[in-house]
Amino acid sequence: MACGLASGGERWPAPPSLSRPPMDPRTTMAPSSLLLSVILCSLCAVALGGNAHNFVVVQRNSFESTERACSSVTRETVLAGTTLSDAGVRIPTSLGDAVDSLEYVVTLGIGTPSVQQTVLIDTGSDLSWVQCKPCNSSECYPQKDPLFDSNSSSTYATIPCGIDACKQLVHDFYNHGCTNGTGPSLCQYGIQYGDGSVTTGLYSTETLTLAPGVTISNFSFGCGRNQTGPNDKYDGLLGLGGAPESLVSQVAEQYGDAFSYCLPPGNGTAGFLALGTPGNNTASFVFAPMHKLAHISTFYVVTLAGISVGGKQLNIPPAVLSKGMIIDSGTVITGLQLTAYSALRSAFRSAMSAYPLLPPNVDLELDTCYNFTGHSNVTVPKVSLTFSGGATIDLDVPSGVLLQDCLAFTGGTYDNSIGIIGNVNQRTFEVLFDTGRGNVGFRPGAC
Ligand SMILES: *[C@@H]1O[C@H](CO)[C@@H](O)[C@H](O)[C@H]1NC(C)=O
Ligand SMILES: *[C@@H]1O[C@H](CO)[C@@H](O)[C@H](O)[C@H]1NC(C)=O
Ligand SMILES: *[C@@H]1O[C@H](CO)[C@@H](O)[C@H](O)[C@H]1NC(C)=O
Ligand SMILES: *[C@@H]1O[C@H](CO)[C@@H](O)[C@H](O)[C@H]1NC(C)=O
Ligand SMILES: *[C@@H]1O[C@H](CO)[C@@H](O)[C@H](O)[C@H]1NC(C)=O
Ligand SMILES: *[C@@H]1O[C@H](CO)[C@@H](O)[C@H](O)[C@H]1NC(C)=O
Ligand SMILES: *[C@@H]1O[C@H](CO)[C@@H](O)[C@H](O)[C@H]1NC(C)=O
Ligand SMILES: *[C@@H]1O[C@H](CO)[C@@H](O)[C@H](O)[C@H]1NC(C)=O
Ligand SMILES: *[C@@H]1O[C@H](CO)[C@@H](O)[C@H](O)[C@H]1NC(C)=O
Repeated sequence: MACGLASGGERWPAPPSLSRPPMDPRTTMAPSSLLLSVILCSLCAVALGGNAHNFVVVQRNSFESTERACSSVTRETVLAGTTLSDAGVRIPTSLGDAVDSLEYVVTLGIGTPSVQQTVLIDTGSDLSWVQCKPCNSSECYPQKDPLFDSNSSSTYATIPCGIDACKQLVHDFYNHGCTNGTGPSLCQYGIQYGDGSVTTGLYSTETLTLAPGVTISNFSFGCGRNQTGPNDKYDGLLGLGGAPESLVSQVAEQYGDAFSYCLPPGNGTAGFLALGTPGNNTASFVFAPMHKLAHISTFYVVTLAGISVGGKQLNIPPAVLSKGMIIDSGTVITGLQLTAYSALRSAFRSAMSAYPLLPPNVDLELDTCYNFTGHSNVTVPKVSLTFSGGATIDLDVPSGVLLQDCLAFTGGTYDNSIGIIGNVNQRTFEVLFDTGRGNVGFRPGAC
């Protein structure tokens, strides 16, 4: 495929204690019969004539176009207005179509002299890595840029076994023993993600160039020597989780323990990743309390208090949502507890009954997909998430609700209880992870 498609895979480390696949096998619903659509269509008038506030009319040509040619995509580096204090740094983010991916990526410089690498940004894991030379086609997957060659960098160094940085990997489920050869014993890392992909290699340090003139020296990362499982063409991954291995933890002393990003609505528009504590101007954010899981410091967890579709609150027993939701930039599709997903799907299908359902999209594992052929305007209900504490956000329509004309939610949770808010639902918000203040902020229309 010229442009390719992402696996739609979720991505978070699977620590040994949770070594079964974290995501339940997703139930693919039987396609709704045409008859059902026709019957439900008697509700169209109600839906379309409903409170205009609760529905958004989207012109069809503003939807993502699957016919779009890769080469016509342009990338802007102009950034949106800032809420960042002067001490911070901003890096452009983009949807990964350049690396055939539905993940979001940033381009960083690594090594001295610095070489550019395009890496996916992942709040669901910590340890950053790139594929490193030498590695053959069975150990490395095809990527966009040439493999990083540590021999060509004057600042590359391996991390010896036994030092604290290596011991920390054991605590955070990222260790992979030590090299066992004739030379010195070196620290190895290993990560298994929720989508089944695996990377192992040498835990190392390097100079990282975040933006022109903004470098992080002695940045700990993984020099990947053996990658298996589903991967798109990105060169590696940038870990933004809460454990000590992540970029945000490594720069917390310089920038403070807060960061934010905006994931743009589609191809060809730029968002940003901002490291640093926000300024005092947070008036345009709404905040949800954030908590951490007992044994894994990686995840940023918020609790949903409710979901509404087209202005109508779904009837979801509070206990269903009580385990919380991991906010994960590295997961494409939001996974809700099955009861919550069923309620959302029914309400969404009712509100969208003017449009015929298509069979499920098997690549994306989505079961509520529409045929919008012949409709120049499509009326989409607002989908709102309310968090504990009362903050409510309206997901962007259509980019944050529909992915390739399918409802961008599924039923499936981490460890059979905790949901995941994926990157599609986060589109166009500035999402601020303020670990210092213990909350997550959302600012609409930020990119
Ligand atoms: C880097 O240099 C070492 C020592 O000279 C050599 O063994 C290794 O193969 C080189 N690696 C690459 C990727 O060229
Ligand atoms: C790739 O390298 C590994 C070890 O370095 C070796 O075991 C394997 O046979 C090689 N595979 C191919 C396809 O060359
Ligand atoms: C290291 O190599 C020695 C000699 O081949 C072997 O006996 C030992 O089991 C190896 N240890 C590990 C941890 O692989
Ligand atoms: C670089 O990082 C490693 C691993 O954390 C640490 O052991 C070492 O002391 C650091 N070196 C410098 C010069 O800061
Ligand atoms: C690469 O990793 C896979 C599992 O992730 C393993 O089966 C394979 O043996 C490894 N290859 C090498 C050369 O270590
Ligand atoms: C981005 O472009 C790719 C093709 O390069 C396409 O498959 C994908 O649907 C597009 N996504 C969006 C959100 O525009
Ligand atoms: C925020 O407000 C406090 C108190 O008014 C002030 O001391 C501080 O400098 C402000 N910080 C920023 C980043 O503007
Ligand atoms: C979508 O609808 C159009 C006409 O309404 C029809 O021609 C087309 O076959 C449908 N597409 C699919 C994939 O069902
Ligand atoms: C679609 O929406 C546009 C802008 O809101 C409007 O001008 C146009 O009349 C609508 N077209 C149809 C067929 O409803």
